[in-house]
Amino acid sequence: MYDYLVVGAGLFGAVFAYEATQRGKRCLVIDKRDHIGGNVYTEEVEGIHVHKYGAHIFHTNSRKIWEYVNRFADFNRYTNSPLANYKGEIYNLPFNMNTFHKLWGAVKPEEAKQIIEDQKKAAGIVKPRNLEEQAISLVGTDIYEKLIKGYTEKQWGRSAKDLPSFIINRLPVRFTYDNNYFNDRYQGIPIGGYHEIIKNMLDGIDVRLNVDFFEEREQLTGLATKTVFTGMIDQYYGFRYGVLEYRSLRFETRVLDMDNYQGNAVVNFTDADTPYTRIIEHKHFDYGTQPKTVVTEEYPMEWKPGLEPYYPINDDKNTHTFRQYKELADQESNVIFGGRLASYKYYDMHQVIGEALTTIQTEFGE
Ligand code: FDA
Repeated sequence: MYDYLVVGAGLFGAVFAYEATQRGKRCLVIDKRDHIGGNVYTEEVEGIHVHKYGAHIFHTNSRKIWEYVNRFADFNRYTNSPLANYKGEIYNLPFNMNTFHKLWGAVKPEEAKQIIEDQKKAAGIVKPRNLEEQAISLVGTDIYEKLIKGYTEKQWGRSAKDLPSFIINRLPVRFTYDNNYFNDRYQGIPIGGYHEIIKNMLDGIDVRLNVDFFEEREQLTGLATKTVFTGMIDQYYGFRYGVLEYRSLRFETRVLDMDNYQGNAVVNFTDADTPYTRIIEHKHFDYGTQPKTVVTEEYPMEWKPGLEPYYPINDDKNTHTFRQYKELADQESNVIFGGRLASYKYYDMHQVIGEALTTIQTEFGE
């Protein structure tokens, strides 16, 4: 008999299983996929760690979380500095003095600030009614037209005029020549891929792959005293209050017979005509020197049951539905819900690790 059946071998499940095992408990981890790691999984192709479910850069401001992950893998010094390609023009992201210099020739921060202020004023938006107006009221027309509009419309599959303004509460604008995307104190990519972290966490723990909880629910829950569930919460309750909606992604990955395709790990295509939003060149996450390269084009798409759920759509309707499921979950005494799918929340990796560690403390009364 196991103490915990952990459904999902992603970050949440792996941290929970590791910590519970450290406390003398027996865990069985299952996953419906044929690999551990969930969405942080990296797969080796041509000696390159390919981020199979989208680019993953670890970043955190928490020293505790940083020291925690460094127990399971060494990290390199990767700093996320994505580029925007707008019809062949290259701009630095996040919006900073390099971007403004390229856009307007602005050299001093005061010049860039003035241009943005003038554009905001000229647009005359007092109360933004949609995402387009919100973005223009925050950063002006030029940045919006070249760097936000096309990308956002592709990402959400609809016009920025039809998207609610709350999607962009703020847009980071930096008046320094700093291309580091994150403000966090710690950042990097695990050497050997994310697989290394999860493999080390699950070392010595029973893991069964290609096992879908819902196909053997009774039998599986009978194997353990408690269940830790990191799958979709609406599915756990048989979709009784309706389906929680997501945006999905399609990845097209190719091996290219050249050593360097785009010179950067992440390039966003911000025009409306290019059908994908980004191209990831995986070797640059690891400063790879392999003779070949692997690139992935990212195509956002509508989600429907059966597709991978990537980004929760936290609008009023889905928030209300989630609350109903959450009420049921809160009443369970032998089931613990955690991770991005059970919480219906976009979590960065450091946040999901933090959530798993907090859950452990609650569970063990620490
Ligand atoms: P995760 O989805 O990883 O794991 C859940 C596991 O449960 C999966 O393996 C699934 O197969 C399994 N499962 C579900 N239902 C099951 C069932 N019925 N039976 C058995 N198994 C089942 N974060 C960050 O910090 N930096 C970044 O750069 C990025 N980049 C990024 C890009 C993209 C495109 C996305 C969508 C997300 C990111 N993230 C990120 C976020 C990161 O992916 C996220 O924080 C973690 O993967 C969450 O781990 P979980 O364990 O919660 O879920």
